Amino acid sequence: MTARSSLTIVLAAGEGTRMRSSLPKVLHPVAQASLLAHVLGAAPKEASKGTGTSLAVVIGPDHQAVADEARRIRPDALTFVQRERLGTAHAVLAAREAIARGVDDVLVAFGDTPLITPETFERLRAPLAKGAALAVLGFRAADPTGYGRLVVEGDQLVAIREHADASAEERKITLCNAGVMAIDGHRALAILDKIGNVNSKGEYYLPDAVGIARAQGGEAVVIETSEDEVRGINTKAQLAEAEGVMQARLRKAAMEQGVTLIAPETVYLAADTVFGKDVTIEPFVVIGPGVSISDGTVIHSFSHIVQTTLGKNVSIGPYARLRPGTSLGDGARIGNFVETKAATLEAGVKVNHLSYIGDATVGANSNIGAGTITCNYDGFKKHKTVIGQGAFVGTNSSLVAPVRIGNGAYIGSGSVITKDVPDDAMALERNQQTIREGGAARYREMKTGKKEG
Ligand code: UD1
Ligand code: CA
Repeated sequence: MTARSSLTIVLAAGEGTRMRSSLPKVLHPVAQASLLAHVLGAAPKEASKGTGTSLAVVIGPDHQAVADEARRIRPDALTFVQRERLGTAHAVLAAREAIARGVDDVLVAFGDTPLITPETFERLRAPLAKGAALAVLGFRAADPTGYGRLVVEGDQLVAIREHADASAEERKITLCNAGVMAIDGHRALAILDKIGNVNSKGEYYLPDAVGIARAQGGEAVVIETSEDEVRGINTKAQLAEAEGVMQARLRKAAMEQGVTLIAPETVYLAADTVFGKDVTIEPFVVIGPGVSISDGTVIHSFSHIVQTTLGKNVSIGPYARLRPGTSLGDGARIGNFVETKAATLEAGVKVNHLSYIGDATVGANSNIGAGTITCNYDGFKKHKTVIGQGAFVGTNSSLVAPVRIGNGAYIGSGSVITKDVPDDAMALERNQQTIREGGAARYREMKTGKKEG
């Protein structure tokens, strides 16, 4: 929207003790990505002057995992450690060095607010481009208890009063501080450095930036958004609520793109799912990260799919589990109780029932019979199974890897295949069948004591 440079500072130094988890709060997942990943994904991307980066993440001491996650999502992210938890303004100033390098817009967001959107960041920046010193994201809280209240006069934001410090009159205000703020980068340090800690919590409050900016002659404004977008996560119950909101968004976006969801509320999507045209997803399907689904593909009920690429007109399930590294060519079919992992199945391959295909490639149009297992693990290492094109693997075969089945080869049912099978060869590995005439009748007689016939 703008040629202005930006620096987003994400505060993620929270302990998250109310999550009752050893995992840092911002690493908890919503739609299979961390809270932090969602916030970083929404943050503007144009770099600040002279640094080449536009992102700073403030983490707590001993939270290397949070720094790692930040850099995994945004390799350009700078991380700063806030050694003592002295308040939100103190946390922002942990990134002083990044602000001091010079930037047009400084944006501050909380790492535990995963539902924030890129559009909202842009809306918040707009007043700065028009000369405002500061813009605060506000929302109408159903229950404002605990939030900072936005005190406004006309279209001007006069102050933010923290709940603990607010008067009875101020506590009646329902317009609340969402915690996201945009500050004019050229004035940011002059404002932030003036924030004190004389308040009921003895913390350096970022919201005090409003009164200070005004005292310095700057203008402060409010940009409103919905409460759903700015839910902060402090507990597992709030995490589940955010999941609900995020899933509803992802389902709506998928349907707007033309995906048919028969019972949308039962389908779990990841934030990064890529859909082609005329995709149908039946009830009770879970899609994890890294999945792309091409045109005309149908996913039947109770299937679980992660890091998988599906070609056109593929059919999956019901009850299929596609694990990371699965790739299916056009028209491939995976049926019930089939598991795949690190498997490339070319166009037209059928694995219709009760199989495990792992560390394998299967050539076009091969048919893998019910109960076929690639024995990929010898207890020490994983090995590959390579099956050519147009091969037929009979029911209940074990393919002991490493092993290669040639193009057009035919494996008899129940075989344990330990040696490579050449192109167009037939392989059969099973004991001779024995027949004892009348044997069944004699067996029953022995068991029941009654003579038959
Ligand atoms: C804050 C706001 C409040 C707003 C509310 C919205 C302040 C003082 N209050 O209150 O106006 O309505 O969010 O949810 O800003 N953090 C640090 N270091 C610190 C303190 C906090 O990194 O020293 C981080 C936390 O990890 C968290 C965020 O800043 O992500 C907000 O801190 P929190 O203590 O949750 O603030 P609230 O009391 O909820
Ligand atoms: Ca909070």
